[in-house]
Amino acid sequence: MPTESLHYAEKIDDATNYIRQRITSRPRVAIILGTGLGKLATYIKPEATLPYGEIPHLPQSTALSHQGQFVIGSLEGIPVIAMQGRFHLYEGYPLSDAVLPVCIMQKLGADILIVSNASGGVNPQFSGGDIMVINSHINLMFQRQPELAGNEVIPKSQDQPGTLIYDRELIGLAIRAGRKHDFCIHQGCYVSLSGPNYETRSEYRMVRKIGGDVVGMSTVPEVLTAYSLQMRVLALSAVTNVAKPDAPSETTAEEVVDIARLAEPKLMAIVTEVLEAL
Ligand code: HPA
Repeated sequence: MPTESLHYAEKIDDATNYIRQRITSRPRVAIILGTGLGKLATYIKPEATLPYGEIPHLPQSTALSHQGQFVIGSLEGIPVIAMQGRFHLYEGYPLSDAVLPVCIMQKLGADILIVSNASGGVNPQFSGGDIMVINSHINLMFQRQPELAGNEVIPKSQDQPGTLIYDRELIGLAIRAGRKHDFCIHQGCYVSLSGPNYETRSEYRMVRKIGGDVVGMSTVPEVLTAYSLQMRVLALSAVTNVAKPDAPSETTAEEVVDIARLAEPKLMAIVTEVLEAL
C-alpha cells in the first residue's frame, strides 16, 4: 500500500473511531445535504450531532448555508448519518479532504449514499425548484480521486450495465415518490465544474452542447468515492436557476439558497420513499 493511502486510511480510522465512541447505532444510509437543503436533517431523530471541526482530520465547512455537522440518528426508523453541509473544491480543500466524509460514513456502516446539491439548469425544459435525479455525469473538475486502501485504481467502464454508478433501482424509487406526491422529477446529466464562479453564458452554452442538463460544483467526487467503495448511489439535484444564455440574468448565491429550500419537501419525499423500501 502506498504511504499516502496508508495515511489516508489512518485518517478514516481515527475519524470513524471518534464517531463510534459517541453513537450506538450503525448507520445504514448516508445522506449529504447540499446548499439550502440542510433542513432535512431536522427530521432525523438525533442520537448525536457532531460538528466537523470536532472530528479528527475533518476541516470546517465554510460555504454559504452549510452548517457543517454530522447528524446521526434515525429517519423513518432507519439508522442514518447525514451531512449538513459538505466540503467544496472551490473552498480550497483538496479533493481527498472533500471526499473523506464519504469514506467515514461508509466505514461506519452505510452502504447507500443519497447525495443532494443545488444546480443551474441548462435544459430549457427545467424550472427553478425542479428536482433532477442524476443518471449520468460529465466530470470537468479534472482532479484525481484519492487512492483508497484496498481499492486498486483499475480503469473500468462507469456506464455499462452492472457497473452503473447511479443505482437504477434507487432512481426508480425517486420517480415513484414524484408520482405519489404529484411532482415532476427529471432524469439527466450533471456536469461538474470546480467553481467558485457561476458560469459565463458561453460556459452554460458549452455545458448544454456537450450533453449536460444541469451544472454544479460538487457531488461527482463524492459519488465516485462512494462507487469505488461499492455503495449504492442516489444523486438528486435541486435546480435553482435556469440559464438562458441569450437573455442572461445574474445568479446570486442567496437566490440559489432560497430556491433550493423550495425543493426541500420534494427531496424529503424521495428520501422517505427510499428508506421505506429498505
Ligand atoms: N452553476 C453552478 N452551480 C450552481 C448553479 C449554477 O448556475 N446554480 C446552483 N449551483
